[in-house]
Amino acid sequence: MSKIKIGIIGLGTVGTGVYKSLEQFKDIEITKIAVRNINKPRNVNVPIEKLTDNPYEIVNDPDINVVVELMGGVDPTWDYISTALENKKHIVTANKELLAKKGEELFKLSEKNNCVVLYEAAIAGGIPLIMPIKTILAGNKLNSIQAILNGTTNYILTKMDVDNASYDEVLKEAQELGYAETDPTGDVEGYDAAYKITTLATIAFNSRIKFENVYREGISKIRKEDIQQANELGYKIKLIASATIDTENNADVRVHPMLVPKSHLLAHTNFVTNAVALSGHPIGNIVLSGPGAGEFPTASSVIGDILAIAREWDTTEYLLPMMRCNHHSIANPIEINDTYNKYYLSITAPHAIGVIAKIGTICASKNISVSSILQKGVQDNNTAEITVITEKCLEKSIKEVVKELDSCTINSIIRVMEG
Ligand code: NAP
Ligand code: HSE
Repeated sequence: MSKIKIGIIGLGTVGTGVYKSLEQFKDIEITKIAVRNINKPRNVNVPIEKLTDNPYEIVNDPDINVVVELMGGVDPTWDYISTALENKKHIVTANKELLAKKGEELFKLSEKNNCVVLYEAAIAGGIPLIMPIKTILAGNKLNSIQAILNGTTNYILTKMDVDNASYDEVLKEAQELGYAETDPTGDVEGYDAAYKITTLATIAFNSRIKFENVYREGISKIRKEDIQQANELGYKIKLIASATIDTENNADVRVHPMLVPKSHLLAHTNFVTNAVALSGHPIGNIVLSGPGAGEFPTASSVIGDILAIAREWDTTEYLLPMMRCNHHSIANPIEINDTYNKYYLSITAPHAIGVIAKIGTICASKNISVSSILQKGVQDNNTAEITVITEKCLEKSIKEVVKELDSCTINSIIRVMEG
């Protein structure tokens, strides 16, 4: 077998883990590494002559067979990746944003040039997920995903729960641990998980999901009081990425916080751990779980992809057929207002006779059944904190309820996962 030559773009958290872990594989040669700043101090010893600040030196290098993109973002990364594909180089990437926003173009271009694009690290870090779905689960009709796909937000929510830590303090910790994106807004506002579920649902359902049709909310509005209240009611708050598809190819794909019953496995998926629950036929239900972010878990997935290419290198004209993009349909999006969910409402109401009755009446007028309603005493300022959990109802209707509760302050509305 001839030695495979790779070029790496990006030597940050993931790139460093990949570089350190690749040292033991003697049949893989790292020819060049592109970084933004060659002179930046690094916690890995890379010969200076291997570094460049011009990624085109990698994607245009005729000696390089595989480009490993660990830089992130779409612009200018797309230019580097598309140039590499035009130059017949295989791609390994951890870039979920690029996959979600440019997936269709990316896979068309890779097929046109008979190249593979592997991206195990892009979704759920170290968990083997893409390869299992595309190979051993290929005979299934998967129709539902419920997952924790972002390590940073799961770390924050867990720490706020178990250590009563403040949001800002824990976000800083997650950044120091290398879990967060360069701009952590992508994590806390749910974009990162939305990118991941876009691609994950596309491959699981064999039908393209468009990123712009994925509903998204993050965790920045979750209060400590909600976490405490959820605990008392038998739930944990988690940022859940979910996707379902029906037999008519209608897909409901979204990311938002949820109250997860403590009896559910996802409620016990803590810190940087991710978990992905898949359902379909004939497999039934399975859960894949493991570290969702960080230097070495992510490197594990990147290296697996590099080795998958390396081991077939020079043996076939058509590498890894099962790992290629093999679907052609586009799913019809279901709008969030047309979905049915259970809701948790935290309401501050004036302490007045009939407030609870009013909440019940407004809910009833919208055909919403209340599952539980709780008021604990009265505040010093003569207001009452009321918590409501509804039965399953139309999203549009709960929004109408909120509008009609105009004499109250709605502190939080969070969807509730069914037990
Ligand atoms: P990072 O620590 O910020 O590293 C980014 C690297 O890209 C740095 O080495 C940087 O160079 C280099 N870079 C940035 N702009 C460049 C440019 N214009 N030209 C050349 N090099 C450039 O990011 P990361 O956490 O390793 O993440 C990398 C990718 O993996 C992203 O797509 C991310 O979403 C994905 N990912 C990350 C994790 C994780 O746990 N961190 C997990 C899964 C997937 P300098 O070092 O000189 O600044
Ligand atoms: N920022 C991402 C996370 C990295 O926290 O999950 C892994 O994709």
